[in-house]
Amino acid sequence: MSILFQPISIGSMVVKNRFVRSATHDYYGNPDGTISEEEVRMYKSLAENDVGLIITAFAYIQHPLGKAMINQNAFYSDDFIDGYKKIVDTVHPYGTKLIIQLVHAGRQTSPVITEGQKPVAPSAVAREEKRMPRELTEEEILQIIEDFIAAIVRAEATGCDGVQIHIAHGYLLSSFISPYTNRREDKWGGSIENRARIIKEIINGAKRKLSSDLSILVKLNSTDGFAGPEYLALEDVIYIARMTEELGVAAIEVSGGIQEAKNSISDVNIKNPEQEAYFQEAARVIKENIGIPVILVGGLRSFDVMEEVINSGKADMVALSRPFIKEPDLVRKLRDVKGKAACVSCNACFNPKGLYCYYKGE
Ligand SMILES: Cc1cc2nc3c(=O)[nH]c(=O)nc-3n(C[C@H](O)[C@H](O)[C@H](O)COP(=O)(O)O)c2cc1C
Repeated sequence: MSILFQPISIGSMVVKNRFVRSATHDYYGNPDGTISEEEVRMYKSLAENDVGLIITAFAYIQHPLGKAMINQNAFYSDDFIDGYKKIVDTVHPYGTKLIIQLVHAGRQTSPVITEGQKPVAPSAVAREEKRMPRELTEEEILQIIEDFIAAIVRAEATGCDGVQIHIAHGYLLSSFISPYTNRREDKWGGSIENRARIIKEIINGAKRKLSSDLSILVKLNSTDGFAGPEYLALEDVIYIARMTEELGVAAIEVSGGIQEAKNSISDVNIKNPEQEAYFQEAARVIKENIGIPVILVGGLRSFDVMEEVINSGKADMVALSRPFIKEPDLVRKLRDVKGKAACVSCNACFNPKGLYCYYKGE
């Protein structure tokens, strides 16, 4: 049997195959941040089609500054527990594991989303003209740490298998680890030890307060999407990967890119195997430095490439986002006929009307 269909242990859970549905904001959440029936149906369709591990769309842990997009799910109070319970109770009977992704938007939001408040960041570094965030105070940083910890502990009440802390794509925590967006001169900036401090505090605090062995995963940027000494370096990423392993993190999903780097997160027009798995080299280096499972995301489209990245030791699992929008039954198709996903990576699925493949052909 292909490695893709063999089980794997991650932290306290066993996942039945190597397929992960990477976190995907679906624009289907209720306006108050609660889970909608549409979302429960979507997660059910993935579970009944054999996705081993589902990571839910990013849920924000602090209101309103942590919110990044409209109709985003929230997890900043106990009011949001019931919705997630519904998802967990829907997918578990299919043997699918469920992880809740947690985020703070940081500088990648706007006052329209944050009820008129100016977005916050480690430092005042503009995304584009007129989009200057406000530098966080020390007190606010400590509050964000508390809010992440509270959300992680809250997740236990949903019956889920774990949480994933979002340290990628330019949102708050990934903007702390990047020297480009973190220019602080206090203990939260400067050396990589300082830039990673907020993550260490969150994980340590959560581990102290959890009453179960809930798995904590991270989605980690391996690059800002730009080369140069002012940007995130792979050696800093390795430092964080080792640090999170020591703190008891169960698995690391390797991604990359911040919003300024345009399509670096979700690369477009992936047509041949050479364009697939565009973070595989970073994953290989990270995996060489840690013992916990590595999940690779980004442009995985064909059976052969997915199998190869695992067989060659670059990753232990493969995560997909866009292909599952077009084909929720992709895992079954790959098992039955191998081949490749129908997704052409056009990014039309980034659409506030709701998660759907809007591709109309060439
Ligand atoms: C519509 C859409 C929404 C996304 N939302 C999230 C999200 O909530 N959290 C996250 O970490 N990544 C998010 N991503 C990024 C994907 O998880 C993934 O990292 C990226 O698209 C590359 O994988 P793919 O080539 O399989 O799509 C989103 C991507 C898309 C297309």
